[in-house]
Amino acid sequence: MVSTGEPAVKLRNVAKRYVDIVAVDYIDLDVKYGEILGLLGPNGSGKSTTLKIILGLIKPDSGSVNVLGINAEDDPVAVKRQVGYVPETPRLYEFLTGLEYLDFVGDIYGITVSEKKARIEEYLEALELEEREGDMISSYSQGMKQKTALISVFLHKPKLLLLDEPLSGLDPRSARIVKDLLRELKSQGVTTILSTHILEIAQAMCDRIAIMYEGRLLALGNMKELRQKARLPGSDLEDIFLKLTGTEDVREVVEALLK
Ligand SMILES: Nc1ncnc2c1ncn2[C@@H]1O[C@H](COP(=O)(O)OP(=O)(O)OP(=O)(O)O)[C@@H](O)[C@H]1O
Ligand SMILES: [Mg+2]
Repeated sequence: MVSTGEPAVKLRNVAKRYVDIVAVDYIDLDVKYGEILGLLGPNGSGKSTTLKIILGLIKPDSGSVNVLGINAEDDPVAVKRQVGYVPETPRLYEFLTGLEYLDFVGDIYGITVSEKKARIEEYLEALELEEREGDMISSYSQGMKQKTALISVFLHKPKLLLLDEPLSGLDPRSARIVKDLLRELKSQGVTTILSTHILEIAQAMCDRIAIMYEGRLLALGNMKELRQKARLPGSDLEDIFLKLTGTEDVREVVEALLK
């Protein structure tokens, strides 16, 4: 763990637009080392774009991105080497078996053969994929593909995890294992930024939550701070989220749809 006051991720004035669509609207964000930060927000609010900007997959139109003490623009490869990223729809090499794919990813990161073998075996067993490791990825279910993508980012022991809806498609047991694993990695100083629509997950496992809306960072804080901001003492994240994002009127919407 780095003990300087510098955050693990520091965004300043970061903006990205697509012609007339504002994807990210001048955001500032500091994420501490060892923190689990949840990115919440309605569809299209800029969560995935923010994660891609942090990884260096998308260059922002303005602003600066500092990741693990590295200026992402100066040395994008150094950033990627230390980061594990799972996109919202992982694209795996479908013509490889799960084992071949993980082996290949391990080689890309230069993990020693013995370590690679041990880690792959351990994760395949933990996520109950070991019996299917020899099957082509094209024959995997959605959840199996998601598990394979997750395992592939844990292999090189990244210092920062960027996970775009990591638990989507996972059965409860696998989701629990991934949640426990992220907590364990946190205790080792690993920083995680994850996006999710599952508010219970965000509330239960994130140290702080960032609520995005139309590209802006509406609120950032722990549950206590968010409750204060929304002026909803004692309420859960769903109420806070709906109030802050102005979607409290869901009942009216549902009633209108049922008419
Ligand atoms: N390549 C692109 N070209 C044009 N517009 C884009 C592109 N990528 C994203 N956008 C737009 O930017 C905005 C933010 O998209 P983004 O994918 O970051 O949202 P999100 O918060 O991840 O949404 P979701 O919850 O649906 O995953 C949306 O309006 C989206 O249509
Ligand atoms: Mg998204």
